Amino acid sequence: MAPAVLTTRSGSPLRGAVRAPGDKSISHRALILGALASGVTEVEGLLEGEDVLRTAAAMRSFGAKVEHLGPGRWRIEGHGGFREPADVVDCGNAGTGVRLIMGAAAGFDLAATFTGDGSLRKRPMLRVLNPLGEMGASWLCREGGRLPLTLKGGALKGIRYRLPMASAQVKSAVLLAGLNAQDPVEVIEPEATRDHTERMLRAFGAVVDVEDTAEGRHIRLAAGQKLHGARINVPGDPSSAAFPLVAALLVPGSEVTVEGVLLNPLRTGLFDTLIEMGADLTITNARDDGGEPVGDITARYSRLKGVEVPPERAPSMIDEYPILAAAAAFAEGRTVMTGIGEMRVKESDRIALMAAGLEACGVMVEEEPEGMIVTGAGRAGPPVKGGGVVETHGDHRIAMSHLVLGLAAQTPVTVDEPDMIATSFPGFVELMRGLGANVG
Ligand code: S3P
Repeated sequence: MAPAVLTTRSGSPLRGAVRAPGDKSISHRALILGALASGVTEVEGLLEGEDVLRTAAAMRSFGAKVEHLGPGRWRIEGHGGFREPADVVDCGNAGTGVRLIMGAAAGFDLAATFTGDGSLRKRPMLRVLNPLGEMGASWLCREGGRLPLTLKGGALKGIRYRLPMASAQVKSAVLLAGLNAQDPVEVIEPEATRDHTERMLRAFGAVVDVEDTAEGRHIRLAAGQKLHGARINVPGDPSSAAFPLVAALLVPGSEVTVEGVLLNPLRTGLFDTLIEMGADLTITNARDDGGEPVGDITARYSRLKGVEVPPERAPSMIDEYPILAAAAAFAEGRTVMTGIGEMRVKESDRIALMAAGLEACGVMVEEEPEGMIVTGAGRAGPPVKGGGVVETHGDHRIAMSHLVLGLAAQTPVTVDEPDMIATSFPGFVELMRGLGANVG
């Protein structure tokens, strides 16, 4: 039986070379675009975490043939469109899954009912439903735009939509709906967010026009574009690689390499920030892999100092603030994180849970409505106490961030609901143990 809690303790240095699991964002998109396309899509390195497996199942229910060929290897046969699902589509814990699939489904004359787990049913969906509604889709949902909800699509008009928040999920939902709209669509993002949808649409044969202006980034998609099956190589997820790499920075004597990590500049804000903090991070073997930059990252134990993270960097590291906050607990001085209100509507309220968890481990944290300040004592000061029993509210990144903290703290750190780690990082415990971490 899976353990009900998981604990990390400080111990020997972490050493070795590992591969991070496939990128979650790219994995969802490979399945969805493969199902929307005509013909066969073959994917290598797909993340086989819970979130992505839900998207695979959803694509079957919308009519695609989705086959698992071997570890990370998947074959999707699309019919150039979605059919109406016969049952409720349950996206589990996956915000990216449900929001992108709703966008894609809105383009077709069908009704689909979506739901998810307790966390997903609390998360806001109007950010996607509003632009889809302007395009002509309709829906019926719980109060505040919550799941379960039923979406009715088809006969969509075009839209020129300025994103009210920095969200790649909203941008992607509008672009995917636009594939089957009668007119062109244009999304304007004041701050650029991860561009995997744009890159992958091109790999499937679509023409996507991107222009940077003083107003922001404009992404245009002409009407009537057809997608054709493609071959997709999914690189390692930088959001997952962050955990063993930060662990190596914090545990004395460590040196860890994570190979084949996605280095898309719209995803690497954490690494830029860690380097500013004094982290010894080096990139080798930088290369292009199927339209995305990729490289191997080595982290060595480092003396870190606190920094102010520029708020405009938030979109490029929005999922990495929890692990940054854990690293900041060991840095000398204040690490100031601002402009991160979006953290409160992730799998959990990540500002509140990081503040509570770090406090339970003896770390000084100030919580703000849209920010968080962590004050560390550095190597000269008293060590991080640890000892917390952390409530994760089923949030995989809250769990992994505290487990990393426990590897370098004075006393063990325990997290609840460790099964949820498989949402994004199946094999996390085994991978960390392989590097020498004391996890159990
Ligand atoms: C994602 C976008 C981000 C991120 C999420 C994955 C994506 O969410 O937090 O984990 O794949 O597009 P938002 O679009 O809500 O910022």
